[in-house]
Amino acid sequence: MNPEQFSSAVLDWYDRHGRKDLPWQHNISPYRVWVSEIMLQQTQVSTVLGYFDRFMTALPTIKALAEAPEDEVLHLWTGLGYYTRARNLQKTAQIVMAQHGGEFPRDVEQLTALPGIGRSTAGAIASLSMGVRAPILDGNVKRVLARYVAQEGYPGEPKVAKQLWDVAERFTPHQRVNNYTQAMMDLGATLCTRSKPSCLLCPLQSGCQAHMLGLEIRYPIAKPRKALPQKHTLMPILANRDGDILLYRRPSTGLWGGLWSLPELSESAALDTFAAQRGLTLGSRRELAGITHTFSHFQLAIEPWLIQVEGNTHGVAEADWLWYNLATPPRLGLAAPVKKLLKRAADELKAGEPT
Ligand code: ADE
Ligand code: SF4
Repeated sequence: MNPEQFSSAVLDWYDRHGRKDLPWQHNISPYRVWVSEIMLQQTQVSTVLGYFDRFMTALPTIKALAEAPEDEVLHLWTGLGYYTRARNLQKTAQIVMAQHGGEFPRDVEQLTALPGIGRSTAGAIASLSMGVRAPILDGNVKRVLARYVAQEGYPGEPKVAKQLWDVAERFTPHQRVNNYTQAMMDLGATLCTRSKPSCLLCPLQSGCQAHMLGLEIRYPIAKPRKALPQKHTLMPILANRDGDILLYRRPSTGLWGGLWSLPELSESAALDTFAAQRGLTLGSRRELAGITHTFSHFQLAIEPWLIQVEGNTHGVAEADWLWYNLATPPRLGLAAPVKKLLKRAADELKAGEPT
């Protein structure tokens, strides 16, 4: 769809399905639209409905707001949360009174210079209340547009945000910009929802790239997860002649607290010291396939070695150490990757048995 077709489809939909009865859609003024937009920034329409008229009755003009005691403003805001919004509201009212003769500027750049008014809120105030052709890109509209153009990249990235703003700018019509703005918000809130978009009812369906791809939910692209730090450990799986594996109990606090685990060494050179300290004689050894375990704050690359222990192992019965019999495993708690490794070790040992 070209921009003309896009905005026509949106406006036709608005005429049939858009919301036209919200309190801030009556007696439209920059003041009323501004207050409603600030309330709606972090609060749902259904909640705002209980506050907007009361606020307007108490403070019907920007002058009244500018001159009200701060306590009165905060009182009217009580329950809406994010009270910085209320304080910024009053600051902005005072600036508009002092610097703009009590009239909101029509210019988006001047609007964004006011406390609490970002680029999208400025666009909403300018278009909804003054008919200025200014794009908006709040959360709902961002979702619609990111899907419509199948925008790659996380919109938190400035480069991606700029591309979406360019799309928003291109599609914003020269006529009926107030209805268009309201329609885009309503589309995002009612049809193009985060998890179950109603594409079959959507006026943009025929041009929507995400819908064509069947990948609506992929867009907008989610915030990339930070790569976790990588750690590495060597885990000797020490097997005695009875097929028992040497385990130890982790301290009750910390990772895998209280669970039984394989010994951990930082490097293979430490293995001989480890064995010598416990009077173990090591025989053949081979490396098993590594596994990676993901903790909440790092990833652990585990390098498992299956190592035969020669001779008698009865000397290693210190507290919190045990020889774990693979054939008749005792009932105790094992760390998840350890359980996997013990299973592998059991298979390896079985395969290696003389027949
Ligand atoms: N959310 C933000 N602005 C809105 C508006 N004008 N109508 C409905 N929801 C909104
Ligand atoms: Fe959103 Fe679906 Fe409409 Fe595309 S077609 S804008 S995904 S509701």
